Amino acid sequence: MDKIWIKGGQILRGKVKISGAKNAVLPAIAASLLTHEEIILKNVPLVQDVFTMLTLIKELGGRYKLNDHEISIKVENIQSFEAPYELVKTMRASILVLGPLLARYGEAVVALPGGCAIGSRPIDLHMQGLEKLGAKLKLEHGYIKAKAKKLKGTEIEFSKVTVTGTENLIMAACLAKGETVLKNCAKEPEVVDLCNLLISMGAKIEGVGTDTVRIRGVEELKGTTHYVIPDRIEAGTFLVAGGLIGDEIIIENVYPHHLDAVIEKIRFAGINIEKIDSKTLKVNGNSNIRSQDVTTSPYPGFPTDMQAQFMVLMTQANGISIITETIFDRRFLHVNELLRLGADIRVIGDKAIVKGGTPLSGAEVVATDLRASASLVLAGLIADGETVVSQIHHLDRGYERIEEKLAQLGAKIKRIKGEE
Ligand code: EPZ
Repeated sequence: MDKIWIKGGQILRGKVKISGAKNAVLPAIAASLLTHEEIILKNVPLVQDVFTMLTLIKELGGRYKLNDHEISIKVENIQSFEAPYELVKTMRASILVLGPLLARYGEAVVALPGGCAIGSRPIDLHMQGLEKLGAKLKLEHGYIKAKAKKLKGTEIEFSKVTVTGTENLIMAACLAKGETVLKNCAKEPEVVDLCNLLISMGAKIEGVGTDTVRIRGVEELKGTTHYVIPDRIEAGTFLVAGGLIGDEIIIENVYPHHLDAVIEKIRFAGINIEKIDSKTLKVNGNSNIRSQDVTTSPYPGFPTDMQAQFMVLMTQANGISIITETIFDRRFLHVNELLRLGADIRVIGDKAIVKGGTPLSGAEVVATDLRASASLVLAGLIADGETVVSQIHHLDRGYERIEEKLAQLGAKIKRIKGEE
């Protein structure tokens, strides 16, 4: 297993280009199941979850070609309706094939994803929604076995905001008979990007980006070419890096309007962030960081996927910050590792109390999940001495070559290849 070695204290400066959004490209790949024509996706991040999702599409009978950061996918006919457990357990986003398979083929067998490091991760809202569209679902031996003669449009209100739940139901409704109204939808930019892709395939969708989405079913969807939006969480991660130890970092290929809540919080902490143009930000470090309380919430609120990274910034702030995690029930696993680096953080229920002004010192730490691993890399950049982060397969799921991008900015960082 690979590790990442970092020698802290190097000032970061220069340009970094943000990759495409993992959480936009995963539903986009699943959407290729909705048509027999070719889907071409550009600005695809070369991250592990993308390869896992492509493997799943291939297992189902689809074919794809990857050329640099562009994928062409064609699912002419399905050989299998099954998303097997060994794939689903590594990536819960596999659940995104459920809606499209039911909509196009009327059949799907998807392993229950189970929990993961950051929480229980149920999919009851996905299942309830699909049943309301007329699907028959049953749970057997850890698999959801779903059948539907023809999905029929109806009105569905999510009892909780769910990103992939919203995405699954929108995709299923595109080929359902009649109109579907989805209420209390997630409004994340990745949901909007999926809707834009589906509309370019011929779907009839109104209310994109709002909490009420109206879909009129069509007979079939066509192929298209789609440019995947930049990854706002990767961009936010580099904003924190710049705030911690940057001197003029230019972040390119970012949509600043996707990061309003994050930029606001980091600016309130005293970090200077400048919008250079519609796709470029400039960030400067600051030795005088102000503590900020933050509560995660669905878009457009402060994203849970930035909670661990922001916590590292608050370990250097002058005061106490309270970080409240409202989305997942166990998303503080990075705290114990940050304590090993010298942070002073106490977790009480859904709150982490961060006492700032604690110099960090390098140590060996273990990554537990994707964003936790990013927070440990950020901490290593400012810790005195050497930090080694292990289990970085978590990091590789959602960040494309982050150690190379940081090295280009001047960080003393490298990947230590592990024995296979
Ligand atoms: C998506 O996960 C993202 N993943 C996550 O990013 C992100 O943290 C999360 O949304 C929240 O923004 C992808 O888009 C692939 P949810 P998702 O359904 O859709 C509960 C990362 O780091 N819930 O919005 O699985 C759930 O337990 C990953 O890139 C139900 O109760 O999250 C949670 O408390 C991590 N029943 C809340 O809703 C359901 O059927 C939000 O979950 C579904 C969800």
